[in-house]
Amino acid sequence: MLRRFGSKISVKIGILVGIQIVFVISNIAIFAYFESQGALLGNSINVAGKNRFLTYDVLVQTLKYISGFSNVSAVNIAMRNFESNLMVLRGSGNASPAMELEPLPSKYFDMWRGIDFNWQKYKEYIIDNIIKPSQTGAKQIPAKLITELQSMASSLISSSHRLVTALAKEVKTDSQNLTILQILLGSINIAILMSILYLILHMLRPIFSLTKATAEVEKGNLNVSVNHRGNDELATLSESFNSMVYSIKEHIENQNVLTSKLEKAYEELSAADKAKDEFVSMISHELKTPLVPMKLYCQMFIKQSFGSNLNEKQNKAIRIIERNLERLEMLVTDILDCYKLDIGKITLSREDANIDTIIKNTITDLKSIIQDQQISLKLDIKSSGTIFCDPKRIEQVLSNLLKNSFDFVPKFSGKIVIRLEDYIDNENNITSKKKFVVFSIDDNGPGITPGEMNNLFKKFYQVDTGFRRKHGGTGLGLSICRGLVEAHGGRLWYDKNYNAGASFKFIIPRN
Ligand SMILES: Nc1ncnc2c1ncn2[C@@H]1O[C@H](COP(=O)(O)OP(=O)(O)OP(=O)(O)O)[C@@H](O)[C@H]1O
Ligand SMILES: [Mg+2]
Repeated sequence: MLRRFGSKISVKIGILVGIQIVFVISNIAIFAYFESQGALLGNSINVAGKNRFLTYDVLVQTLKYISGFSNVSAVNIAMRNFESNLMVLRGSGNASPAMELEPLPSKYFDMWRGIDFNWQKYKEYIIDNIIKPSQTGAKQIPAKLITELQSMASSLISSSHRLVTALAKEVKTDSQNLTILQILLGSINIAILMSILYLILHMLRPIFSLTKATAEVEKGNLNVSVNHRGNDELATLSESFNSMVYSIKEHIENQNVLTSKLEKAYEELSAADKAKDEFVSMISHELKTPLVPMKLYCQMFIKQSFGSNLNEKQNKAIRIIERNLERLEMLVTDILDCYKLDIGKITLSREDANIDTIIKNTITDLKSIIQDQQISLKLDIKSSGTIFCDPKRIEQVLSNLLKNSFDFVPKFSGKIVIRLEDYIDNENNITSKKKFVVFSIDDNGPGITPGEMNNLFKKFYQVDTGFRRKHGGTGLGLSICRGLVEAHGGRLWYDKNYNAGASFKFIIPRN
């Protein structure tokens, strides 16, 4: 399209320039022709003017001969000179090596014949009265001869002079005509140039309009259009531009409608989200609140605060109720944690917490279970100091991992190792090296099969083994642990290279 556009404009401009060139060339040709015609006429004037001089020469040579100062051959030479000049004037040719002549224009033939007539008369008179007598040796000089010769020469000069005057008049007229022609052609030339300029400006007008409209669009004003009708490419371009602006406008309007719809939907969603948050918090609160007095009364029954002793059956039943109340309370807490982790709204009370304290607190909480199950719990601590974390949440992670291990290690021969070591992330460059503490909980239980590893961290997922019934739980623990570790900027994974049981690892950044 652009190539076609370029070619059509080039053709139009080419035609205009071609017209101008043809006109200028024809002007030059016309002027050259007139100039050459003027030059030729000027040459004719020179030759015709020479007639007068040559007539004098013939007269002078004749008078010299009569006076005895020269011989008759000088008269002959002068006569031949005149005659050849007269013939040159009439029939064109080379008057001299530097002077070219055109044949005398036909309208001057009569004048030329007048000169020739006078010359023939003059010549005949000289031959009869000068040349012929000189050949016979009789040199008689009639008295009136000189007067006759002078009068005939005068007539001859006059006739030559008339031709010179007529030719000069024509040259003058031609020169005046040439001046008028120059003015006329100059005016036409200016008019053609002005027309070309006008046409070029006319052709470029849509481009100016397009440039202006494009600048407006760039500024963000879409209420513009280019009015250029026609069948050339500029008209097509203008039409395309207009429809493009219309499309953009339509698109922006649609976009605005969509944006306002989205804004409205977002507001509605935010409100729904807020309502959901409030609902979940309210439900978990409402679910937990009745558990508090229920647990309290259970404990009062167990401690026999109501006076009467419970028999063994009643005591067992009340302990089952208490355990299930605790499970229910934990479940509600876990569901709320899961929900908050999912929506990224978990709140962490971070501080520089001592790693030893975290480990000690966790073990103290689980001491009774460790003792009951006679589990060998070893610590392999190669890292110390603090980590920037919410210590309660890290304890929660450790506690879930340990509780899982407690349930899966063999009874009375269970072995669990808690390992702590430093880790430096070498993948980044030296300046941004990040320091971590790696926590590992290894046990000597059945471990996890490769097929189950990917599902471990899914919510409510529990490996289907014989231990499950004994283990209990809801399958939310590992999912919550991973969420909590990641909320600290760390990572939690199952170590598939460990094959003496199960091994869970997580890293927490120092800072
Ligand atoms: N140390 C382990 N050895 C063997 N299997 C394990 C171990 N830890 C976890 N699992 C398997 O992974 C499952 C998911 O554990 P997770 O802690 O997420 O849930 P849970 O312990 O079943 O329930 P809860 O929500 O009370 O923690 C467990 O049910 C168990 O099948
Ligand atoms: Mg668990």
